[in-house]
Amino acid sequence: MRVEGMITPPGDKSITHRALMLAALARGSSMIHDPLGAADTRATAGIMRRLGAAVSRLRDGKGVRVLGRRWRAPSETLYCGNSGTTARLVLGMLAAHPFTSRLNGDRSLRRRPMRRVTDPLSKMGAQIDEQGGDGLPLTIRGGRLRRIRYQSPVASAQVKSALLFAGLFGGVGVSVTEPHRSRDHTERFLRYLGARIRVSGTTVSIAAGEFRPEGFEITIPGDPSSAAFFVALATLADKGELIVRNVGLNPTRAGFLRVLERMGGKVSIENPRDVAGEPVADLVVRPSRLRATVVHAAEVPSLIDEIPVLAIIAARSAGVTEFRGVGELRVKESDRLGLIASNLTRLGYDVAVLDDTLAVQGDPDHAPIGRVATASDHRLVMAFGVLAKTAGARIALSERSSAGVSYPGFFSVLQGVVCP
Ligand code: S3P
Repeated sequence: MRVEGMITPPGDKSITHRALMLAALARGSSMIHDPLGAADTRATAGIMRRLGAAVSRLRDGKGVRVLGRRWRAPSETLYCGNSGTTARLVLGMLAAHPFTSRLNGDRSLRRRPMRRVTDPLSKMGAQIDEQGGDGLPLTIRGGRLRRIRYQSPVASAQVKSALLFAGLFGGVGVSVTEPHRSRDHTERFLRYLGARIRVSGTTVSIAAGEFRPEGFEITIPGDPSSAAFFVALATLADKGELIVRNVGLNPTRAGFLRVLERMGGKVSIENPRDVAGEPVADLVVRPSRLRATVVHAAEVPSLIDEIPVLAIIAARSAGVTEFRGVGELRVKESDRLGLIASNLTRLGYDVAVLDDTLAVQGDPDHAPIGRVATASDHRLVMAFGVLAKTAGARIALSERSSAGVSYPGFFSVLQGVVCP
């Protein structure tokens, strides 16, 4: 297979969610350039409207304007669709607001754990009423909060961000310590808006005192998680070269590139620059023969969303690749751990899951043939979509539409860079 051309991934999903939420609470008008326009971020925009903000498209068609307001009680359920980031981060913000809201989501989101956020928010003083056990739907009534020092059992940027938002908008001190450092977009964004955040090791804290940002203007970098599919594709190709432009390279997100380099991948980083406090660059990717590696638990948070595509890379590499400490994959948009293993097995690979470790016996010369069930999980369908393009593969995907959760048009971009 030959891969040739130049692509620009869509705007970063994590940063777009944060931009929409912070703009909806800011004083006055904000402009967000190059945001991700996909199902997940549309869910966030819809909720911001229900809470009182005005969200409209800019005339250039490439950005949105948000008119922030003091939030008011929503008259209807806040529907988060498939998006865990929407649900958990909005819960943090609502904890600081003295009214009641009900949150719900699709089938996948309703089974995802919310107590990791609602337990510490309850300790801060928010009133939570569960209707779905450790999941959605639930109602939250915020108001006067207490300070918290929280030791999170999971490394999760969603938990950390929810508590920081609750503290900032509720005016109380918060400190969150994680087992490993998770992505730091919230910290960078809040600093960009003038908030004071302290970071020491894996602890992030803010002092008491209410914070309300002024309207702002921001450009969203390209999403490294979306770029990863194309980096994988060009690496697994036999010939050609792919340029992937405008990729966010925040070190707390760039674990994928570090692991790929260890495996023998050839990615050169060009034109490094800074966009609104986030490092960004263009990538030039060439095909390479890859060898197995061990992905350690400490690096998992920096590549958590890239494990499906890394597992595909591992399958086409020589040797056994181990992913250690990846139990969190069980509670993503699907049970990714189970589905990576069952689908790769069905395609003829030797795969084992032992506790929280996934081991993939790779074989660069094996032609994967069979049917893949993606459980409507966007990252699984895109990862196996990449594998389907590699030499000798004949793979039928159970669906393709879930790619629209984070990367509308993914399959036509894929088609466009693979030469017949
Ligand atoms: C995200 C954090 C990660 C990631 C998710 C987006 C964020 O989840 O998997 O896709 O924007 O904060 P966790 O915080 O649960 O690890």
